[in-house]
Amino acid sequence: MKTLFINIKELLQTRETNIDKVSGAEMAELPTIKNAFLLIENDIILDFGSMEKCPTEADKVIDVNGKIILPTWCDSHTHIVYAGNREQEFVDRINGLSYEEIANRGGGILNSAKKLNETSEDELYHQSKKRLEEVMLQGTGAVEIKSGYGLTVNGELKMLRVIKRLAENYPIKIKATFLGAHAFPKEYKENHQAYIDVIINEMLPKIAEEKLADYIDAFLETGYFSVEETEQIMLAGKKYGMIPKIHVNQFTAINGIEACVKHQALTVDHLEIVTDEDIEVLKNSSTMPVALPSCSYFISIPYTPARKMLNAGLPLALASDFNPGTTPSGNMNFVVATACIKMKMTPEEAINAATINGAYAMGISNTHGSITEGKKANIIITKELNSYYEIPYRFGSNLIDKVMIDGKFIE
Ligand code: NIG
Ligand code: FE
Repeated sequence: MKTLFINIKELLQTRETNIDKVSGAEMAELPTIKNAFLLIENDIILDFGSMEKCPTEADKVIDVNGKIILPTWCDSHTHIVYAGNREQEFVDRINGLSYEEIANRGGGILNSAKKLNETSEDELYHQSKKRLEEVMLQGTGAVEIKSGYGLTVNGELKMLRVIKRLAENYPIKIKATFLGAHAFPKEYKENHQAYIDVIINEMLPKIAEEKLADYIDAFLETGYFSVEETEQIMLAGKKYGMIPKIHVNQFTAINGIEACVKHQALTVDHLEIVTDEDIEVLKNSSTMPVALPSCSYFISIPYTPARKMLNAGLPLALASDFNPGTTPSGNMNFVVATACIKMKMTPEEAINAATINGAYAMGISNTHGSITEGKKANIIITKELNSYYEIPYRFGSNLIDKVMIDGKFIE
């Protein structure tokens, strides 16, 4: 079944030959074709180009006059699978408590873990699928989802099984990350090594046996997992082929990035605090830095210093961090807008960061993240727009007309 889109006002992120990511100054360049066509066959992009060269044969022709088409967002960092919500902590923060103070009172991640362990797998699936459906309608066509609110063998397995079930039941591409090292459960506060042993000796072998995770993560942060503790986790994961993608430098810089690069992490995520040394370490590595501006927005912490990083020649990906504590939103349109508004990324840089670089950050840039022959037919069709600048400019509006994932329109 061939579907032909004609009269596309502008087709964005067109890459004749595939690239896996863009870095530094290249990020300012977003290749586009004005007055374009796009031909797809089933779930694959077959051809695209200027309307002058538009093919005549197709089973279905869709005229999108005045509208822009771009690849769907690749959201490489989320915690979409969770139980309940934390709106009480949101109000506590408005009334003056900090994220850290709430966590120290047993709130935060441990609050979500308690709820998750009391929730059945079916109920967890039911709650999570609503969020997945929501982000698909907001234009996300590939998503990474982490565990990390179980913090028990059963809880972590429950989360990862729900992620697997979502991947089986929805057209959206899903990558799973094991984040058992998200926080230390209360009973291990004074004995970190005992919990790390549970992760390594009890959780990991079962997760590997059921093939439940592609990547391994840890919250490398003062008061959470130290550099040395995170290194143990990264090494253990790698034995099972799980590549590290690590939460690091959210609140403090403690040379965590250096350790992640040493262990060939695919990504280092958050980076609200970045030192000159961190930037040096990231240069000449294949590790992708990932910024999460909605998190900075929601809990009022600094934004990742994107300009400084891009000027140093680094690549950057943007992701949502959708989670109940620091980012109860998976809206990648808002992420792209906030990156432009608060991090001074240009629309071209932000779109590159949320498409091709997001794909790299979840190991799928050979199939996702650009309009390229042979890649998945994953597209956002906008409403009628003057130009793609409107995507970040009109930050609070829904500018999406239709989303297609794997060749299917999302209803
Ligand atoms: O990415 N920083 C660590 N983890 C999550 C938030 C966890 C929570 O508060 O539930 C994050 O922001
Ligand atoms: Fe996160």
